[in-house]
Amino acid sequence: METSKNVQPEQITDSDLSEQIKVVTKDSHTRAENTELMLSYQRGHVSLTQYQMLLCSLYKIYEALEEALDRNATHDAVAPIYFPLELERLPSIRKDLEHFYGQSWREKISVPAATLRYVQRLRQVGSEHPEYLVAHAYTRYLGDLSGGQVLGRITQKSLGLKNGEGLSFFSFPAVSSPTLFKQLYRSRMNSLELTEEQRRGVLEEAVAAFQLNIQV
Ligand code: HEM
Repeated sequence: METSKNVQPEQITDSDLSEQIKVVTKDSHTRAENTELMLSYQRGHVSLTQYQMLLCSLYKIYEALEEALDRNATHDAVAPIYFPLELERLPSIRKDLEHFYGQSWREKISVPAATLRYVQRLRQVGSEHPEYLVAHAYTRYLGDLSGGQVLGRITQKSLGLKNGEGLSFFSFPAVSSPTLFKQLYRSRMNSLELTEEQRRGVLEEAVAAFQLNIQV
């Protein structure tokens, strides 16, 4: 099985959660870099269709993720990593979809089955395992903050977009330094008080979150 190359959660017992999650998803990250879409990005070109499809999926994914985070905002294992002002993507994605599809964008968007499976898992985690939300938030937001600037530039050049139109998703106006913000986010992850079972669950969920992204 492909995931067997990953370091297994039970093999990791020392160091902080932010380190553990990085180690346990290392191979998943490599696979995520090698999807067709990400390879297009690395070749420096993305098509309009590819970007529109990505935005449609991201809309559904962030709608479910941010709804789950909002609903559990005061949960002990969510509150420290709850940063709606800095991270919220849904309003930006809506703006981008409106740019490409016009005001009736809601009627025009469609998403693949893989995205619906991801959404379903996010809803389930939100209601049954809020302590695993950190795994999903980490996978999306830290990924967006890490590669987002580069992907944004490639999208802009490939599609000849002007004045940042259609590119709101990549922009985090409330984060002045992604590097510093990621440090803060990691320290908040490390402050979560999790039982051993919960910690393992979070690590497994992070691997699952990467897999869901790869399938999208
Ligand atoms: C073209 C494809 C990609 C490239 C070249 C890439 C590259 C990188 C690089 C260089 C970093 C390290 C940044 C740093 O240490 O500050 C990083 C971090 C990260 N990436 Fe990616 N990435 C890609 C795709 C993805 C995808 C598809 C996901 C998941 C949806 C993802 C999730 C993450 C996460 C969660 C981190 C934070 C790791 C940590 O600091 O713990 N990446 N990426």
